[in-house]
Amino acid sequence: MEKQKKTWTAVEIGDGQERQRIARKILESLRDWFEITRTREAYIRESGEQAMLAVREGTEEVGFLCLKETGSAAAEVSVMGVLREYHRQGVGRALMEAAGKWAEHRGYDLLQVKTVEMGRYEDYDRTNLFYLGMGFKTFEVFPELWDKDNPCQVYVMPLHGNARLLDVISARRSYRGRYRGDRVPREDLERIMRAGLDAPSGCNRQTTSLLAVDDPDTLKKLRRVIQPPAGETAPAMICVLCRRIIAYRDRCFAVQDYAAAIENMLLAITALGYASCWYEGHITDTDRIGDRMAEILHVPGDYELVCFLPVGIAEEEATRPVRKPFEERAFFNRFPEGKN
Ligand SMILES: Cc1cc2nc3c(=O)[nH]c(=O)nc-3n(C[C@H](O)[C@H](O)[C@H](O)COP(=O)(O)O)c2cc1C
Repeated sequence: MEKQKKTWTAVEIGDGQERQRIARKILESLRDWFEITRTREAYIRESGEQAMLAVREGTEEVGFLCLKETGSAAAEVSVMGVLREYHRQGVGRALMEAAGKWAEHRGYDLLQVKTVEMGRYEDYDRTNLFYLGMGFKTFEVFPELWDKDNPCQVYVMPLHGNARLLDVISARRSYRGRYRGDRVPREDLERIMRAGLDAPSGCNRQTTSLLAVDDPDTLKKLRRVIQPPAGETAPAMICVLCRRIIAYRDRCFAVQDYAAAIENMLLAITALGYASCWYEGHITDTDRIGDRMAEILHVPGDYELVCFLPVGIAEEEATRPVRKPFEERAFFNRFPEGKN
């Protein structure tokens, strides 16, 4: 039987002394990478002043990384360590993904990390391959920044829009868990809405309009009518409005138009590191929650509020629903005999 890969969650460590304790515990166990006491002690000391993300197994930290600003557009993973027995189990990946989100949510455009250039030492070669596998790009080697035996390789990763489209498509999930309290910056909401409005529409009738809500009082009013609750901890939501306009002859493509806009927005939300869920069934049933939301938002009568998308940072992992196998739903050249 295939071994199930464990999912790890990185958490931010708020207390400086706690950060130093974790850094000491892990770095002292990784003497092959952090053998020089003076350097190791400097990392431990500095961890007290920097942001730290850590992964735990039970109550024990098994990996961490620290982040610091190196310029107004860039953050750096200044040190990272994973207990040797937890290597190649996804801990580093979970930490690095969380670091990308951490930096992105704080408005940085680039994440950088430094290591010893590939081809010098086996252990560091594995580190290089890990960074490349995470999507870092080689930026520059500084042969003498550290010393001649340890040429410094700088890697960078562009954060906004770095996620490749096909990766974003398969990473998107309907998230129904709790959201963190962090507000979603207006510019992110605008980028998401622009992605929605960039969607195709039948005869370019552009029947979809969008209304983002980030005002806490208005969110509170909306939550009162969204019963049972859905996306209630999200700090923002985007409501999708539709006008059932005829595109040509008797054809109305309003549903297709807003579906395309919603999917574009869900992908933009995923690419920016947020979570969401397509809530349509929930608010368009016989209890017409959508109409009551529209009333609260002063939406004119010729628009229908058909869906809302919560937007925020997920506190938990989204579950991945089972999809039927590719071969059952996708074919080439002809529909296979005996399938129905
Ligand atoms: C038209 C439509 C309406 C939906 N309405 C709801 C809804 O009201 N509540 C909900 O929890 N999910 C809703 N969803 C999300 C689906 O349940 C979800 O896409 C599906 O279970 C597959 O999961 P995934 O999005 O993680 O791939 C809706 C999706 C679509 C396309």
